[in-house]
Amino acid sequence: MPEIQQRVTKLRQELQKANYAYYVLDKPIIEDSIYDQLYRELQNIESQHPSLITPDSPTQRVGEKPTSQFISIPHDIPLYSLDNAFNLDELRKWQERWQSRYEVRNNEKIDYVCELKIDGAALALTYKNGQLIKGITRGDGKIGEDITQNVRTIRSIPLKLAFNDSSAIVEIRGEAFLPLDEFERLNMEREEVKETPFANPRNAVAGTLRQLDPNVVNQRRLQFFAYTLHLPQNNPLNSQWESLEWLKNQGFLVNPHRQLCPSLEAVVKYFRHWETARHYLPYMTDGVVVKLNNFRLQKQLGFTKKFPRWAIALKYPAEEALTMVKDIIVNVGRTGAVTPIAIMEPVHLGGTIVQRATLHNRDRLTELNIRVGDTVIIRKAGEIIPEVLRVLPELHPPYSEPYEMPSHCPECGSMLVHPLGEAVTRCIHISCPAILRGSLVHWASRDALDIRGLGEKIVILLVNNGLVKSIADLYDLTPENLTILDRIGLKSAYNLVAAINNSKKQPWARVLYGLGIRHVGNVTAKLLANNFHTVEQLAQASVASLNSVYGVGKEIAKSIYDWFNIPENVTLIKRLEDTGLQLQTSYHSVVKTESTQNKVLDKIFVITGKLQTLTRSEAKDLIEKEGGKVTGSVSRKTDYLVVGKNGGIKLKKALILGVSLLTEKELLNLLK
Ligand code: IVH
Repeated sequence: MPEIQQRVTKLRQELQKANYAYYVLDKPIIEDSIYDQLYRELQNIESQHPSLITPDSPTQRVGEKPTSQFISIPHDIPLYSLDNAFNLDELRKWQERWQSRYEVRNNEKIDYVCELKIDGAALALTYKNGQLIKGITRGDGKIGEDITQNVRTIRSIPLKLAFNDSSAIVEIRGEAFLPLDEFERLNMEREEVKETPFANPRNAVAGTLRQLDPNVVNQRRLQFFAYTLHLPQNNPLNSQWESLEWLKNQGFLVNPHRQLCPSLEAVVKYFRHWETARHYLPYMTDGVVVKLNNFRLQKQLGFTKKFPRWAIALKYPAEEALTMVKDIIVNVGRTGAVTPIAIMEPVHLGGTIVQRATLHNRDRLTELNIRVGDTVIIRKAGEIIPEVLRVLPELHPPYSEPYEMPSHCPECGSMLVHPLGEAVTRCIHISCPAILRGSLVHWASRDALDIRGLGEKIVILLVNNGLVKSIADLYDLTPENLTILDRIGLKSAYNLVAAINNSKKQPWARVLYGLGIRHVGNVTAKLLANNFHTVEQLAQASVASLNSVYGVGKEIAKSIYDWFNIPENVTLIKRLEDTGLQLQTSYHSVVKTESTQNKVLDKIFVITGKLQTLTRSEAKDLIEKEGGKVTGSVSRKTDYLVVGKNGGIKLKKALILGVSLLTEKELLNLLK
């Protein structure tokens, strides 16, 4: 028996170490298969000798039985909320407020601890004799629900503290959260089984923690950042910063981006840095929490009814907002796709005022059951245009009817079609003015013919006044016939005609992209131009030969083939050729696309640290322009990590996973 006991202890130690390395340090030390072997050995011994089972054994994370309900229990120490500041002015006012209650003495050093505000769910954990004995939700701050068996499944929460095994009670608070890739995986799974996806990671965490079956929770891979510590009295810790170190040493995951700031200016700098950098993190954050570091100072300032006076949440502008739908219109794009759009009461969202949001397509309309007059929640994700996320059904206006897509094109009056197997509604009338306008704007856009001065407003004037009925008509414009338009003076008319004429020098690949053939983006256009050196070769190519080009799939091949079989398009090509546009390739551009295509196209990049000359978003744009993808976190799927100064945790992860590293210079060479 003592030998078995020894083996059990050894196995537990090894498994705990491996767990910690994997889930907390993000730095695996053993292979998954070896972990499984050790785990199974421990499980076997424990099943033969149940008396050896202890609650902190790694085999005991997931309880067997679902509970029928959670029990409410009061918190020994209430969980306060945080006061919010929505801008830097309010942050300064907070400083004035606490300073009015505390006289800062000459030479007294006041430090702030800045932490990221993690968008998840707060948990209170209790340890006794160093063992996790309770996990409670925040609830209303006074009473929460006992979800201990769910909390035990979170691998970054130690079942046993590393050093502290005194009989004293230790309370730890922090935020349970769902990493973004897990959130996406979870929602995909839910969609597959026709369950409603979670609206955001926070809801997914809250929903998961309230699951009655710990096995379900176990599969969802929640994580936990610890940020508050309550030790028994007479402990040697004097500050928040020391608490965080203590938590880290005991085996908790503590957010690595915490910072000790010697002044409010340093806090502001931290806030500004994370305003964009947070979008590269693999979890959601919605602000920065600023805490006075010194516990003596915290104690003197105390709490209001709801908040500590010594801390504040400095929030980033909301990316979700509530507003009302004033009207629903449809927009006809250059491909003829008809998109329903909600026109709303203007509302602040992600730092701008928003009054239009996409409703995507007919299927989404049905799902939302949206009506004019509805109250809606809109969302802006990154750079994408806002979308309507949810409608509040209780607030449908009385007697209202759900909005339905029109049957005819609002621009040209022709009947709209619903291509089989597609969610889009489409206008297929070849001379629909909306399609023409969209095609012209696309033709003039930066990656296509790059005609400066030919933006949407001028295009509308040209089309509405009948001066342009086809892309080719642009090349017949003269300064004189442009000046008949109210808004254009002689000088701008000359400039515009010059810019249009200049575009004749643009290479074949850009012309091809400019034609706006469905599925032919600028990367595909380069590939095609590289393989089909003249427009005649491309026009005569079979679907099979188009499909045989690296990077050109069946759908793209079919779309190109169909395009060249429409007589109007053949006429257009003929006219464009006659104007002197480049419809064949030059030697130089062949070399460029060949050297780029395999190294960047469809490769997954992650960028970390500060680059020397480019900003991260400029680097991202360059990579995406060449067909690469840029994601926020390093995984086995990552092809390259572009490393700037202070690469940090992503660099470590890339090294462990064997991901290729690139300097900024190497990246630029690759993109050349
Ligand atoms: S400190 C008395 N630190 O934000 C101190 N809270 O809006 C209270 N949160 O309920 C909490 N990250 O759920 C603190 N680094 C962080 C946090 C954080 C996220 C959450 C927490 C709290 C809410 C208040």
